[in-house]
Amino acid sequence: MARISSRLKEVTMEKIPDITSDILDKLRKLNINSVYQLAVQSPSELGLGISDVLDVELAAKLIGNARKILTENEVLSREFSTADDLLVRRNNISRYKTGSSNFDTFLNGGFETQSITEIAGEFGSGKSQICHTLCTAAIELMEDDLDTCDSGLIHRPPGSIIFIDTENSFRANRVHQIAEQKNLDPEDILKRIFHCNVYSSEQLEVVIDDLPKFIEQYNAKLVIIDSIISLHRAEFSGRGTLAERQQRLGKMLNKLRRYADIYDIAVVITNQVVSYADGSGFDYMKAAGGNIVAHGSTYRIFLRRYGKNRVATMEDSPSQPYQRAKFTIAENGIRDANSYKTDESDSAW
Ligand SMILES: Nc1ncnc2c1ncn2[C@@H]1O[C@H](COP(=O)(O)OP(=O)(O)OP(=O)(O)O)[C@@H](O)[C@H]1O
Ligand SMILES: [Mg+2]
Repeated sequence: MARISSRLKEVTMEKIPDITSDILDKLRKLNINSVYQLAVQSPSELGLGISDVLDVELAAKLIGNARKILTENEVLSREFSTADDLLVRRNNISRYKTGSSNFDTFLNGGFETQSITEIAGEFGSGKSQICHTLCTAAIELMEDDLDTCDSGLIHRPPGSIIFIDTENSFRANRVHQIAEQKNLDPEDILKRIFHCNVYSSEQLEVVIDDLPKFIEQYNAKLVIIDSIISLHRAEFSGRGTLAERQQRLGKMLNKLRRYADIYDIAVVITNQVVSYADGSGFDYMKAAGGNIVAHGSTYRIFLRRYGKNRVATMEDSPSQPYQRAKFTIAENGIRDANSYKTDESDSAW
């Protein structure tokens, strides 16, 4: 069923206060073509990008004006909002399910919009399988949008998913298989997944810079990046390059956080693990990327393998307790493990 979107389409860039035709030309050359695309910029980068015309102060002013338009249209919260207003906004977020009731309950109903959810785990722990399952299950929940404009209502294309693949892990036939097993329409689902193969850290950064344009063009509601760290980890391997790697990862996450908020989309990223010794003689695993990735994501889920099953642990959440869910990987994607037990004495935990 179609719903009226909170997105505004009708406010053109020309209506942004303080904007001149010269600045508009410069912004268009930088591929910034909408109020949203201006609102997600950071002043320092925008100021630098068109420094012959703009300084950082003016860039900040223009971004502020774009954000103000979004606030007036209730797309963004006010600088200071009362907590009850924030509660209303939170209650309006969408949640995209996987179809595994254990996993969805564990996520408080599904992967939520306006957030970055990180899934970390060792190889084979199920990160990519969760992403594939989410692709099939989420699309069903994406309604068509109706936007308002001066001449009435515009019908936007049905919601879609952007899948950014840095590990060549996406398999369209796997999505097809999961969809068929779930009695969903595989053809429709495959048409609504926009896949992008990325081969270098620089290319990933450019794709993330350009994401707003694609989010608007495809009416994307969910962006999956599998994985956020592999390319940066491979290319910045020496100790001397660690600081630069972390800075670049931080910038990407910062942008993704802005996109999640302004476009009301769910962002799901996968992360690898590093092993560390705690001095007791045992090696442990933790998510890669250090504090930058840990602070950059809203939710952090850690996956571990237990025989045929997998256990997901909520390691960081702004509103949920530390908790776990058990699932397995099957032809129909991730699903509840048959022998699910909540008993702490279950040796599989
Ligand atoms: N059709 C299927 N049916 C059942 N299990 C499957 C199917 N396809 C893949 N798997 C299982 O999924 C597991 C791999 O999971 P996945 O690719 O999600 O790991 P990952 O965490 O992404 O690992 P990596 O870090 O290597 O990318 C394998 O154990 C494989 O057996
Ligand atoms: Mg994978």
